[in-house]
Amino acid sequence: MRELSVTESVPEDVVTLVREARQVVALSGAGMSAESGVPTFREVQRGLWERFSAEELATPDAFEADPALVWTWYRWRQALIAAVEPNPGHRALAAWQRHLADQGGWLAAVTQNVDDLHERAGTDVLAHLHGSITTHRCADCQEPVEVPDPAYDGFTVPPEPEQPPRCPACQEGLARPDVVWFSEMLPAEAFDAATAAIRASDLVIVVGTSGIVQPAASLPLLGLERGVPLIEINPEETGLTEVMDFAIRGRSGEVLPRLLAAAGIPLDRR
Ligand code: APR
Repeated sequence: MRELSVTESVPEDVVTLVREARQVVALSGAGMSAESGVPTFREVQRGLWERFSAEELATPDAFEADPALVWTWYRWRQALIAAVEPNPGHRALAAWQRHLADQGGWLAAVTQNVDDLHERAGTDVLAHLHGSITTHRCADCQEPVEVPDPAYDGFTVPPEPEQPPRCPACQEGLARPDVVWFSEMLPAEAFDAATAAIRASDLVIVVGTSGIVQPAASLPLLGLERGVPLIEINPEETGLTEVMDFAIRGRSGEVLPRLLAAAGIPLDRR
């Protein structure tokens, strides 16, 4: 593994990998959206949730114990996501995807993020491994539930928890976000699509993930088994760093545009 600082110019072997890759998988995590203003999962929380870590709220047990607290946390995050914009990292991935499609290749975006910032930047996302914060379903009967947009402004933490609505289909269960909580299974279709893409890839880029939450963190290992080059973009060392060929230490909004520019991939065409 070769570790590179963001202040160095991108070495020629990394530029060549990016320039020559035709079948790319980009696996993204919360760090990808950090520069848009969406807090990652390991950050300290404020207000109603100051006593809880994100990991303590993102569980079926937490929802069962205090549905309003968990529901309001997700509603507030949903409002926050709606209020922020994709950052240059999201836009660079979208540009790379378009460029590869023009060349007869592809970029498969596989994300652990429940936000829609990749899509809003113009990326076609292959797999949302951990679901989506913008849709809802019944926690009991699993039927989709339509829920109005949150009333919060996205920046101020709501002062009081709000009860989740009841499911109109079964009249029993409570609405919950369509996200994957700790201890829950990933949507099989998304995971299978991600696995197939990695098995067919010639480059894997791992961006903004701590690489500790399974099974998503095991996906790059499928590339490793096949000898596919692996590049990490993250300001910090992660659970996946040791299997990487290159680890570029910097923020995705800065590193991705630089990497593409160095490889001659146009950034601003829409
Ligand atoms: N650019 C790139 N990486 C960044 C940036 C940035 N600007 N800012 C922070 N990071 C990195 C951090 O160094 C960290 O490694 O992003 C990572 C964020 O880690 P987590 O918060 O653990 O996010 P993630 O890996 O996506 O978590 C996985 O855990 O709770 C679950 O379902 C949730 O999808 C989430 C999963």
